[in-house]
Amino acid sequence: MEALRAVQILNPSGEITMPRPDHPRVLCVANQKGGVGKTTTTVNLAVALALHGNRVLVVDLDPQGNASTGLNVPHHAGVPDVYDCLIDNVPLSEVAQAVEGIPNLWCVPATIDLAGAEIELVSVVARESRLARAIAAHPEKFDYVFIDCPPSLGLLTVNALCAAQEVLIPIQCEYYALEGLNQLINNINLVRQHLNPTLDVSTILLTMYDRRTRLADAVEQDVRNHFGSKVLNAVIPRNVRVSEAPSYGQSVMTYDPGSRGATSYFEAALEIAMRGVNTGGTA
Ligand SMILES: Nc1ncnc2c1ncn2[C@@H]1O[C@H](COP(=O)(O)OP(=O)(O)OP(=O)(O)O)[C@@H](O)[C@H]1O
Ligand SMILES: [Mg+2]
Repeated sequence: MEALRAVQILNPSGEITMPRPDHPRVLCVANQKGGVGKTTTTVNLAVALALHGNRVLVVDLDPQGNASTGLNVPHHAGVPDVYDCLIDNVPLSEVAQAVEGIPNLWCVPATIDLAGAEIELVSVVARESRLARAIAAHPEKFDYVFIDCPPSLGLLTVNALCAAQEVLIPIQCEYYALEGLNQLINNINLVRQHLNPTLDVSTILLTMYDRRTRLADAVEQDVRNHFGSKVLNAVIPRNVRVSEAPSYGQSVMTYDPGSRGATSYFEAALEIAMRGVNTGGTA
């Protein structure tokens, strides 16, 4: 069974594909709470979609550079990065790097330079829409752009919300999960009113679910009651293989494709792809 799952996920023959959207989908992966699985979700969904025939770009918008690390993309000081796009108008195509071993996947890395951007952006022209312009100006179209946000609601996250049509909110299945979400939703509403009228919270993903606890079940019910069909049926379990993968510069998809973590991210990616086709996208 495990071997079968692994073959389905790695898709060496290229046979099993996830449907491609008819227009590029730009998803902002945001939650100002730290450590809820934003980066893990970005990396694994991106790899899953790319392994199944979609052209995918990951934009690492967090000065911590975790998505760059997870995809094994060089991001030491001096490497051209998303900071150059935001502050110096360098085209995305000049900083995007192909992800080794995963065809159809590219990453715009974040270096430590990005730590200064939050403050430097304050005084640049059109400070909220720098990333939107950079993505729109990219000559080749991607099927998916995933923007991995930092755990804050500052100008970097606002740039991501302006650049995206969809917001994907990962929610960790623990007691304080819903606290703070109001603040995120308020910010999304403000961006929608003033900067990006078609922005839509399209997707909620429950992460780090621990089946052994009744609490996780209670949080799941709460989130499903509150967000309804926006919540993916696929739920990501707490799985040690998921947390080991980044230290090998890999997603769990390639690190242990037979694991429960890989299977659930594969299912989540498939659901996202199917929803995009069924609704014609949400933009
Ligand atoms: N399903 C999972 N099972 C086990 N560990 C996980 C799982 N998902 C994420 N983790 C681990 O939890 C930690 C936080 O995850 P991650 O970095 O994706 O969160 P984040 O929201 O991006 O954090 P930050 O707010 O710092 O950017 C990491 O060490 C990651 O490896
Ligand atoms: Mg992160």
